[in-house]
Amino acid sequence: MRIAIFSTHKFEREFFQHANLEFKHTLDFFDARLTEQTTSLAAGYGAVCAFVSDQLDEKVIERLKSQGTRLVALRSAGFNHVDLETAARFELPVVRVPEYSPYAVAEHAVCLILALNRKIHRAYNRVRESNFNLDGLVGFDLHGKTVGVIGTGRIGAAFARIMRGFGCRVLAYDPTPNDELCNTYGVQYVELDKIYSSSDVISLHVPLTPKTRHLIDDSVFMRMKRGAMLINTGRGALVDAQALITALKCGTLGAAGLDVYEEEEGVFFEDLSDTGLKDDTLARLLTFPNVLITSHQAFLTAEALSNIAATTLRNVADFEAGRPLVNEVRAEPKGAKRA
Ligand code: NAI
Repeated sequence: MRIAIFSTHKFEREFFQHANLEFKHTLDFFDARLTEQTTSLAAGYGAVCAFVSDQLDEKVIERLKSQGTRLVALRSAGFNHVDLETAARFELPVVRVPEYSPYAVAEHAVCLILALNRKIHRAYNRVRESNFNLDGLVGFDLHGKTVGVIGTGRIGAAFARIMRGFGCRVLAYDPTPNDELCNTYGVQYVELDKIYSSSDVISLHVPLTPKTRHLIDDSVFMRMKRGAMLINTGRGALVDAQALITALKCGTLGAAGLDVYEEEEGVFFEDLSDTGLKDDTLARLLTFPNVLITSHQAFLTAEALSNIAATTLRNVADFEAGRPLVNEVRAEPKGAKRA
């Protein structure tokens, strides 16, 4: 099948080309993000492959359908950027990669904790300037600290297991508790309030839904243990960025490690070093020494990229062969309760 792959980055092409030795689709890579303005590039392609930065709103979906697109293949787990109701209305199936490496994201969350705690970002810059002073670099032992995990699906569970390995007490909240985490790893499921009030580190691993949007807002920051660390590798809008700035300014929050940001579209994955940042909120966040931001790179391991490419191309092959779409995502029926 002919696949138009949008928002292609250099780092992923070789993984797609390698995985395609098995599937033999025709792959065309476009650097451009999929937006209303670039939809015409997809004309004549049966499948459109999109990433988290691509726009799949009503207008784009309608246009894709009218141009002959028959399948949208997301090369991501998250699908909050897709208007699934419109896709269903236009009978345009949407498939995704539900799992590619929970370890990649969980390990990145741990990486943010360690770097922030031991101030590696500051130490690195100091030493490069021949400043070997240690003042301001004091961290804490993770051993014995309390870590709160919100969302214990694939990634949250992998994260919880790693933190248990550090000797942390792990508290978790998820509407669907994972028995193995309790029984084998000693993770304790508690109410959200307990996580907020008791955790030294809180890590978010829930999908973005209307219910989880701004899950962490002013009122939550006020209930957190003073000086706690917040890690977000889930989705930017789980955290109210203005409330985050307020919490950092008044010291309620001790540190923030963010791999995602509410307004990351058009910023993350781009080189803006010549133009500068237009987003004042992000610019303010970057001024805090106790904030570490990465550009949505938690998934970026060779294993994850290889799995993403293989599953995406298999999803397209299943569609082409008329096999069941095991990785299809659909709009929730109206009135359904969301987790
Ligand atoms: P998953 O579907 O395996 O787990 C999500 C868990 O969240 C489920 O156990 C669910 O019951 C729970 N949940 C849902 N609503 C909740 C709520 N209101 N409170 C507490 N728990 C709730 O998903 P997975 O694979 O673990 O991924 C989690 C999220 O991580 C994805 O939705 C995606 O947004 C993000 N992600 C980020 C990546 C990155 O590169 N930064 C890469 C991949 C995923």
